[in-house]
Amino acid sequence: MSRGYEDRTGASKKLFERAKRVFAGGVNHNARFYEPYPISVSRARGQHIWDEDGNRYTDYWMGHMALILGHSPKVVVDALRSQLPNGTHYGLGSRLSVELGEEIQKTVPCAEKLRFCNTGAEATMYLVRLARAFTGRRVIIKMAGGWHGYNTELNKGVHKPFDRAESAGIPEEEQAYVKNVRFNDLESAEAEVRRSRGDVAAIFLEPVLGAGGCIPADKDYLKGLRELADKEGVLLAFDEIITGFRVSLGGAQELYGVTPDLATFGKIAGGGLPLGLVCGRNEILSLADPTRKEKFVSIGGGTFSENPLTMVAGLATVRYLREHAGTVYPKLGRMGEEVRAGIDREFAGSGVEAHTTGLGSLFLTHFGADPSNAEEAAREDKKTKHDYALRLMASGIFLLPGHPGGVSTNHTSEDIDYLIAQSRKFGESVKESVG
Ligand SMILES: Cc1ncc(COP(=O)(O)O)c(C=O)c1O
Repeated sequence: MSRGYEDRTGASKKLFERAKRVFAGGVNHNARFYEPYPISVSRARGQHIWDEDGNRYTDYWMGHMALILGHSPKVVVDALRSQLPNGTHYGLGSRLSVELGEEIQKTVPCAEKLRFCNTGAEATMYLVRLARAFTGRRVIIKMAGGWHGYNTELNKGVHKPFDRAESAGIPEEEQAYVKNVRFNDLESAEAEVRRSRGDVAAIFLEPVLGAGGCIPADKDYLKGLRELADKEGVLLAFDEIITGFRVSLGGAQELYGVTPDLATFGKIAGGGLPLGLVCGRNEILSLADPTRKEKFVSIGGGTFSENPLTMVAGLATVRYLREHAGTVYPKLGRMGEEVRAGIDREFAGSGVEAHTTGLGSLFLTHFGADPSNAEEAAREDKKTKHDYALRLMASGIFLLPGHPGGVSTNHTSEDIDYLIAQSRKFGESVKESVG
């Protein structure tokens, strides 16, 4: 299946050989490696990326789903251009960071106060520290399949068998107080709260399980978790690094009508530049006030936090989204629905068992039963999924194999029709090879 892909990506292949001599495994993020070798991007604009061989792709990976306005949107490019001569890094606060912070405060229901950093992995690490200090408890309940970045404690049970460290070099003790439960299964969370009674600091989850299968929380699941947390004096925390500013302006917490005590954001909020942030109730975030004498929680920031380039890119993006929310979100939701329904219709027509999950503009096709948690998603036919991604790439569509995709405001109905048509062709080829 990789022949069509390899025939047109010789320059990427060569560059990857060089990359392997420089970087461990040739990549700087594990998700970016796929067989036989990944494409190398030479430029990006709107809904498109181009590779080293000059092939153009309609991009649905969109920079790990960070680019809701597409690549290099004018509002962000203009903001960056006007900031560049005025400093790329202050190492101090500025009006720009206050303004982006205020935008987020205004938009995100739980964000009474927040702290910027540079990546999602940092933000989730800080969230854990804040939750433990506030409650005086140790256990963090997360979801099997839940991905919260590369930080040591939370890097547990993301993949099968969903109960151990994802990496060598992490002693068991480091993750002893992180427990995985089944997503969309309230009883599984209740059972862990019972087992760890009196020591649970927070239940921490992505409202749409991302790397675990692009699976949205059932309508009442988040409400059930909120009630459970309130009953047990446990904090409820959402990782909105994918869903924030994507499934609705105020994130999944606004869409589902469930306000968590703490949350992390990143991706879209940085407008395509590096950003992470932790936000939540004032009394929790206030523990990070460096003038505190007692119970002070030391969290970053870091050297490059609130750097003015990220601040202006984030501001331009979040303001644009707020000002155009009435058109952007309904349009993205409609297009996402068309993608999910169209792909499923074509595979059903070819007799291929496939289900496309997602919410709003997010989607991921599973070759197997319709999953409601990561364990079920892991049972699918991975080879067909990989073949599908390579076939799409060979026809000028980029979806990172095995990962969710996201529609941006730049995608057109022609783009979506083409994705659906190529899915039909793939379905027909699978049927022929089986038949
Ligand atoms: C839900 C979620 N949390 C955390 C992270 C980590 O963010 P970063 O890659 O910026 O460290 C990601 C990244 O993909 C994510 O999807």
